[in-house]
Amino acid sequence: MSILVLPGDGIGPEVTAQAVKALRSVAANGPQFEMAEAAIGDAGLHQAGDPLPEATLEAARRADAILFGAAGTYESDLLPPEKRGGHGLLRLRKALDLFANFRPVYAFPELIGASTLRREVIEGVDLVVLRELTGDIYFGTPRGVERDASGQRIGTNTMRYTEGEIRRVAHAGFRAARQRRHKLCSVDKANVLETMALWREVVTEVGRDYPDVELTHLYVDAASMHLIRRPRDFDVIVTGNIFGDILSDAAAMLTGSIGMLPSASLGEGGRGLYEPVHGSAPDIAGQDKANPLASILSAAMMLRHSLGQEEAARAVEAAVREVLAEGYRTPDIMEPGARSVGTEAMGDAVAAAIQRQR
Ligand code: NAI
Ligand code: MG
Repeated sequence: MSILVLPGDGIGPEVTAQAVKALRSVAANGPQFEMAEAAIGDAGLHQAGDPLPEATLEAARRADAILFGAAGTYESDLLPPEKRGGHGLLRLRKALDLFANFRPVYAFPELIGASTLRREVIEGVDLVVLRELTGDIYFGTPRGVERDASGQRIGTNTMRYTEGEIRRVAHAGFRAARQRRHKLCSVDKANVLETMALWREVVTEVGRDYPDVELTHLYVDAASMHLIRRPRDFDVIVTGNIFGDILSDAAAMLTGSIGMLPSASLGEGGRGLYEPVHGSAPDIAGQDKANPLASILSAAMMLRHSLGQEEAARAVEAAVREVLAEGYRTPDIMEPGARSVGTEAMGDAVAAAIQRQR
């Protein structure tokens, strides 16, 4: 089993190192992995002149699974796309056709007190945001900034989805709902955007193949409200690229911190890209403050979905629960009376707990 590790920028390398530690702890008395590392993001640009170096893409195509950290910085966000670190990730997802980004939002009982939301709202939250990753306004053309006849600048992006792109992610959503509580909520803006009217129509058509799944629809603005007001009512949420991006950061707050949210980006085959939902967090990079649990939980998803190691995946998840129960907290989830630890110490605690699980 081969894993390609792409640490990237900012806190990417810091949190990814802890996930690698967890995988090594799993491997100490279990499945063996071959791990290789490659450059992406600003790091790719500096090392090989491209945020997605050709060698990295080739290695990604050969690997069984990819563990990714974060790409981009505020500085490179301002550069043209071909030099933007974050663009390397967008291109990688697109090149591997990883269209289905599963973002489980689970409120750990141990962390209820770390959220800014009230206990009775978030207790028992267990939902999945399924974000489409390869289409939408992030990729549609025409795009760019031009000047009109009067010299005024005009920015353009295009929200675009093919029927096929909607259909395949809808199927992924219904299949996921079937494995959970049989509820799928499709989020769109069908009242204003033609692209999203098509979205709703196609999801509804696909739904006829899944009579056992209850399908509902929400407009994205209302969905953002319901997500905070009655999050327990949601099971699987399927939505487009940009709405999924925004809704899942909001959903992160149900769990206490964006540092708790893992994700899996999957295509039609078994290969997947596993990544924390958060970015490179330049404000805390290099300070041993980042929460590595999102990255470690992403590694658990990798064990489950791409490497066929369900038991190991459960051991990693149980280890995370154990360290939370023991009171280990990085600053983002710190509570009075808890044990304040840094990135490294949290990673060490999880690695040790994995040993006790197995
Ligand atoms: P961000 O997710 O990096 O940070 C948002 C806030 O959450 C910050 O205050 C940060 O300190 C905190 N945070 C994030 N991860 C954390 C963790 N593991 N533990 C504790 N606190 C954490 O989003 P932001 O600030 O909008 O973007 C920063 C850079 O990352 C930008 O250059 C952006 O383009 C890039 N980015 C990359 C992503 C990726 O590679 N998947 C996703 C989102 C942003
Ligand atoms: Mg985002």
